[in-house]
Amino acid sequence: MREGFVMTKKVVDFWACQDEVTKAYQDKRVLLLGQGKSGKPNVMTIGWGSWGIIWKRPVFTVLVRPSRYTYPMLEETGEFSVNVLPPGKEEIAKFCGSNSGRSVDKFAAQGLTPISGRVISIPIVQECIINVECRIIYKSDLLPQALNGPIRAEIYGESQDLHRIFIGEIVSCLRG
Ligand SMILES: Cc1cc2nc3c(=O)[nH]c(=O)nc-3n(C[C@H](O)[C@H](O)[C@H](O)COP(=O)(O)O)c2cc1C
Repeated sequence: MREGFVMTKKVVDFWACQDEVTKAYQDKRVLLLGQGKSGKPNVMTIGWGSWGIIWKRPVFTVLVRPSRYTYPMLEETGEFSVNVLPPGKEEIAKFCGSNSGRSVDKFAAQGLTPISGRVISIPIVQECIINVECRIIYKSDLLPQALNGPIRAEIYGESQDLHRIFIGEIVSCLRG
């Protein structure tokens, strides 16, 4: 357990939370937290993600566009946390998905509190009901030529801002 971590949440098995995580994605209330070398955390809303088992490990995959303020943070520390807001808090996700940490402190603006993670060196979000702690074990830029043509046209058009795929090993899951 990390120094600074205060046990206010319950350690749970990630697989027992899967249905709730799925529902949260459907409701659009999932936040990705990253923290760069500066030590200042940031959250952004994520609508895409998947989880399962790869390389014999439990993994959580997120897709982040290079234009996001959060993007270099994932590169710098190699860790992220996925944080599920409670039902009814969709407005917070809307805000965190339409404002950039470059110009606003989303924690202060939305009454969110970054607290020490249990295993990773970067924070989780106190007000979230599920916190998944991940260490990046694979990252890869999306290859446009490898993506189904109609989907490529629909999602990206002429954009060069293609997502990078980050696969994180799930090293801890908390609830509370
Ligand atoms: C519902 C929703 C889902 C989103 N999903 C993603 C996603 O999976 N990947 C991504 O790169 N951006 C996604 N975004 C956009 C970012 O959350 C948004 O650009 C945000 O302002 C980036 O914040 P940042 O610049 O502080 O990193 C989503 C936005 C919303 C509203």
